[in-house]
Amino acid sequence: MPGTSEVTSDYSGSITPSTSEEDEEEENEDNQKITENSSLLWTTTSSGSKRCPLIMFRPESLINRDKKLKSIGEKYHLAYKMVKTESKLVRSVLSAYGFHEVHPNSADFNLMWTGAHLKPFSLRSLQDFQKVNHFPRSYEITRKDRLYKNIERMAHTKGFKHFDFIPQSYLMPSEYQEFCSTYMKEKGSWIVKPIASSRGRGIYLINNPNQVPLEDNIMVCKYVSNPLLIDGFKFDVRVYVAITSYDPLLIYMFEEGLTRFATVKYEKTNRHLKNQMMHLTNYSINKKSHDYVRCEDPEVEDYGNKWSMSAMLRYLKQEGIDTSLLMMRIEAVIIKSILAAELPIATACRMFVPHRENCIELYGFDILIDENLKPW
Ligand SMILES: Nc1ncnc2c1ncn2[C@@H]1O[C@H](COP(=O)(O)OP(=O)(O)OP(=O)(O)O)[C@@H](O)[C@H]1O
Ligand SMILES: [Mg+2]
Repeated sequence: MPGTSEVTSDYSGSITPSTSEEDEEEENEDNQKITENSSLLWTTTSSGSKRCPLIMFRPESLINRDKKLKSIGEKYHLAYKMVKTESKLVRSVLSAYGFHEVHPNSADFNLMWTGAHLKPFSLRSLQDFQKVNHFPRSYEITRKDRLYKNIERMAHTKGFKHFDFIPQSYLMPSEYQEFCSTYMKEKGSWIVKPIASSRGRGIYLINNPNQVPLEDNIMVCKYVSNPLLIDGFKFDVRVYVAITSYDPLLIYMFEEGLTRFATVKYEKTNRHLKNQMMHLTNYSINKKSHDYVRCEDPEVEDYGNKWSMSAMLRYLKQEGIDTSLLMMRIEAVIIKSILAAELPIATACRMFVPHRENCIELYGFDILIDENLKPW
């Protein structure tokens, strides 16, 4: 798996607004109305002792601007705050549901949407009705070096054949010698990446150890040189996953995802190693190309350089590929990657998070598929 990002700009999960029990009786009638548009649901805790309101954020809210939706946030005085991030889309969705924004320093919020990770003392002060969009130590899964080390550890303890989906990688400069000895045996192309970057920034291919920068925070990974192609182009799949708890582990995988294509036809030869638009599938890289084709019609899912995941699966199915098997493999890769980071994150939650439902996080998994239908 090339990468996992924390997603801070799009969110279609759920958060729990705070209510006092006394208000409940009187509110039931109104809730009935709101429930009709199925955006506010009432659930009970596992012990059945407490009723919890659950808001379903739907993308249509951005287009419809439904007054009923707005009344949800207004009725319960729901508040959010944005800290060190703009996240316009999250803002728009929350405002469509009647949430009002409070100052980043305010303690009076239901949801904190932050671009930075919280310090332990901020986490400890969360109340049971408050949510924040990151788990402590979440970098165990979002930082490329940590993810690699966690998966490598699982390979050692649980068996390599179950955790063979992450290309062999070396951390610079400390593992340079090891990299050189592996390179002598395996040659081929390798890909250099900053450990904590995103959007393809600072990533390039090499085929000689001399080209590796001996700087801190750089990783060199084996290049998967036999990607599955569509119409001659390399692509990857962005799968959105929401985790609402690490202890117990609760993973939600969104049924739709994105397929992102390179803009230059793929060639296996070394001649074009420098051409990022052939080897990297990031939108941020390929949108700069004159060949990038945008799809303006939201109803069309299989045109241009970004398709929906389901359009890609339909295409592959037509080509005779077993797409159910492919999706099962992709799910397995995602679940095993999360399992690899579960222990350190769950431990941090036990230490710093006062209530079980305080944290949520949305991750974007970038999955590359090779010509043997193996996801990486
Ligand atoms: N080992 C690899 N073999 C082949 N292609 C790779 C490999 N690693 C990365 N790529 C290509 O490079 C792109 C960018 O890599 P990656 O997803 O790891 O970094 P990023 O997009 O910068 O970071 P993030 O996904 O955390 O935002 C991938 O989408 C994929 O097309
Ligand atoms: Mg990526």
